Amino acid sequence: EGLKRLEYRGYDSAGIATVSDEPLTLHELTTYRVVGKVEGLDGLGTKLPGSLGIGHTRWATHGAPSKENAHPHRSGAVSVVHNGIIENHEELRRELILQGFKFRSVTDTEVLPHLINRELKNGVNSLSGAVAKALTQVEGAYAIAVVSSEHGDELVAACNSSPLVVGIGKNELYVASDELALAGKVDAVAHLKDGELVVLKRNGSYMFRGISLNEVKTRLEKPSVADEISKGGHAHYMYKEILEQPQAMRNVLAGRLREGSPVTFGGFTPDIEGRLEDARRITLVGCGTSLFAAMAGKAFIERLARVVCEAEQAAEFYYRDPMLSSGDVVVGVSQSGETADTLHAMALAREHHALCLGVTNRVGSALSKRVRAGIYLHAGPEVAVASSKAFTAQAAALLLFAVHLAELQKRPVSGALLGQLLLLPALMADTLQKEDEIKRTAYQCKDAKRMIVIGRGYGLPLALEAALKIREVAYLDAHGLSASELKHGTLALVEPGVPVVAIMPSGALRDKMLSNLEEVKARGGRVIPIEPPASLPDELVPIVLAPLVQLLAYHLGVAREVDVDQPRNLAKSVTVE
Ligand code: M6R
Repeated sequence: EGLKRLEYRGYDSAGIATVSDEPLTLHELTTYRVVGKVEGLDGLGTKLPGSLGIGHTRWATHGAPSKENAHPHRSGAVSVVHNGIIENHEELRRELILQGFKFRSVTDTEVLPHLINRELKNGVNSLSGAVAKALTQVEGAYAIAVVSSEHGDELVAACNSSPLVVGIGKNELYVASDELALAGKVDAVAHLKDGELVVLKRNGSYMFRGISLNEVKTRLEKPSVADEISKGGHAHYMYKEILEQPQAMRNVLAGRLREGSPVTFGGFTPDIEGRLEDARRITLVGCGTSLFAAMAGKAFIERLARVVCEAEQAAEFYYRDPMLSSGDVVVGVSQSGETADTLHAMALAREHHALCLGVTNRVGSALSKRVRAGIYLHAGPEVAVASSKAFTAQAAALLLFAVHLAELQKRPVSGALLGQLLLLPALMADTLQKEDEIKRTAYQCKDAKRMIVIGRGYGLPLALEAALKIREVAYLDAHGLSASELKHGTLALVEPGVPVVAIMPSGALRDKMLSNLEEVKARGGRVIPIEPPASLPDELVPIVLAPLVQLLAYHLGVAREVDVDQPRNLAKSVTVE
């Protein structure tokens, strides 16, 4: 059940290993692995003896999805599951092979059980000691859980740059990569820090240790995900999450925006406010949907606060050796707070003494731990691989941030915009009322060979996001671009009947968009305008219209019989470069 709740992290193969309970004889290690989703492990029941075990659901990085490459990986009595990447695995593999260790997979992970086994063979007498010693030899990111039939009363888990949470329940102890897996099962949780390990014992005791095995103080907290995650009676998480957007908007605005008062963010100390006031440039970094939310954020910040702002794809930012200094503010935008490319970009910004901030949905995520301050979205867990409510929550949070920066720069923000911002939850609810119409459109377009989504100004980031969503959950070849770019090449793809979705601006660019649509109609393209409600401030277009394009993608996906919650080849948290 816990593994199923983690499937959003990867779902191409899965496995479980248990250590039998017999205390007097040798414990026995039993492993089952399957290609495909966790449901392939259903019904194992008594075939998996014991009340101590580890499990994993995989998103392939090194090696194709196959039984051999699925976790847990084993070496002698030791069995390991791992999230992350061991960067020096090739070198370690060569060394271990020379010493006679046999590799059965092509994964980077398999070096871990062999390293731990080697330490035990060399005389280390505790499993935690062997794990700690083995980890001093690896480079990279990991969250691991380890059992051994020769140390059958304990489970050792450790992490570095990958999340790991320990859960304390009634007569049960857990570790997981995400609290979601433990929701409703535990009364307290503890998030491990980088370089820490935890030893869980069959008798119910547990100890936190540093990598040198020094005892570390236990930091138990109340679980932040209290209830079991469900689809709320809907067929898919994605659909439920789209419908949750009015509530998500309420949560983003709560305590931050009040009529007649300046915008406030808890955690923004006077020192941070000072640096924001003096900021020479703000760079928003993110990937995928979060990058598109960042693009909307750039437009908000430049327009309202008149501060230079860039939105950058996190990996491109990191690898182009950007010019940064202490006058820069770099904001990591990430639903999960775990995206490796975004974390790397933030690490670089930190090295250059930029002020590092985060916009994330996940309390306690790596991003939230590595920034000076941040804005939590409080949008609630997003389980579907395709991001929906996180996009609008990120865009709304960045709009609030832009208003805050404008206030710091003593630039007035129009009362009309602030008034409509407060109405965002209601505006989102109104948008969702138009589902029937958009669903009809989706079914009419389901056999299209391609789709084009165009936007201008504030609508452009939403056009890009809409095209991504259609590609991701409907496997339909969708191109997102500025309406003004059409005539510079992509118009060649407009043939009779090709659906061209237009995110209609509410402001000055509306007439320009109408002319662009004439160009489409003249080539026989089928124009599908997505219209904002009357007198909506242009800034709110990418937020208020987002549910419509999300519903369009969703219904296209359902009509095309795609597994919309878990599209092929993808994972929700991309914790590798
Ligand atoms: O957790 P993050 O926001 O950092 O994730 C970034 C992207 O991987 C993510 O937005 C991805 O593009 C979504 N699957 C799109 O729906």
